[in-house]
Amino acid sequence: MAGRDKSTTESQSLSDEVEMWGSLVDAAPDAPTGTAAGAAARIDEEELLVSSLRPSRFDEYVGQDHVRSNLQIACNASKRRGDPLDHVLLHGPPGLGKTSLARIIAGEIGVGFKSTSGPAIERPGDLAAILTSLGERDVLFIDEIHRLSHVVEEVLYPAMEDFELDIVIGQGPAARSIKIPLKPFTLIGATTRSGLLTSPLRDRFGIVHRLDFYTVPELTRIVSRSASILEIGCSPEGASEIASRARGTPRIANRLLKRVRDFAQECAKSDISGEVAAEALKLLEIDEKGLDRTDRAFLAVIIEKFSGGPVGIETIAAALGEDAETLEDVFEPYLLQEGFIARTKRGREATDRAFEHLGKQIPQGRSAQASLFAKE
Ligand SMILES: Nc1ncnc2c1ncn2[C@@H]1O[C@H](COP(=O)(O)OP(=O)(O)O)[C@@H](O)[C@H]1O
Ligand SMILES: [Mg+2]
Repeated sequence: MAGRDKSTTESQSLSDEVEMWGSLVDAAPDAPTGTAAGAAARIDEEELLVSSLRPSRFDEYVGQDHVRSNLQIACNASKRRGDPLDHVLLHGPPGLGKTSLARIIAGEIGVGFKSTSGPAIERPGDLAAILTSLGERDVLFIDEIHRLSHVVEEVLYPAMEDFELDIVIGQGPAARSIKIPLKPFTLIGATTRSGLLTSPLRDRFGIVHRLDFYTVPELTRIVSRSASILEIGCSPEGASEIASRARGTPRIANRLLKRVRDFAQECAKSDISGEVAAEALKLLEIDEKGLDRTDRAFLAVIIEKFSGGPVGIETIAAALGEDAETLEDVFEPYLLQEGFIARTKRGREATDRAFEHLGKQIPQGRSAQASLFAKE
């Protein structure tokens, strides 16, 4: 932008900026580029944004009313009795507010919060060290808890149940097990895949909640709140335009808001109106159903390469050059919920809605099953 010729006409300069902005978008948001210092600055900025937008109390947490009110009651009861809260398992697709809820819970009860994740705990000793460092009634948050290894998980069972560590010392006939008491604590586990949790682990959670995708009005509230925290001018129409294309996910809504803000500032030179938001989102290749390039590629592979399916997720992943787990965790849940694909025993099928959305002819004689069971 710095070297732009001042004499260019307004429309030319706009298209230049749009192009420049477009190229920035590919690198963003998760892959900082440029110098190391630049990258660090970007990460810091991103971190700052995430933490400033994170709701810190139940009354700032929008939506999920059922989950929120249940947890609020449980937190109040635990606080009054001075007991630790029962262990909590939160599951649902990424970006719906699991980490935020865990932090809110610790804050509301007024106890310490320690955070780690399944893959980060490599050995039983790592977990033992974390557990022994917890204070009375503290919250230990384990993200991606389905990725804990079995040996680590086994340390967790007696810790969750009896607040003690069971440690085996020595080997062979001389081996003996000793018990180390722990302070009562609350484990909050988060997972995108509750199906992958072993049943002994799942059974040890007293409180289990599933987070659902957010409605457009809820996301509109989140976008408006974020806009005011970030001091971005955003009309109600602008907020609702962003909300309606955010795949039911607050994290995506906030991310889109930031991209739309860039567009508003650099290209439109105005606040975010409905029109500006629509224009920016079009440029980001997010369609009116909120599907992005990968979503559409997912559908297109099933439709074009496998005549609508059914086809296995591994095959789709190979065709897209994506990882099957990412497709299942990140992309599939929304496509399923919106009825673009159906999951059958033999694999994924594109529904009539997917054919229509991509402007493809629905093949004659296709069974109506795919669309019938789309909401299964
Ligand atoms: N209920 C909510 N109300 C307001 N903002 C939310 C809510 N849930 C999530 N967010 C926003 O989305 C971001 C991602 O949420 P997070 O808790 O990290 O999701 P998860 O852990 O489920 O992936 C948060 O930083 C916050 O800005
Ligand atoms: Mg999280």
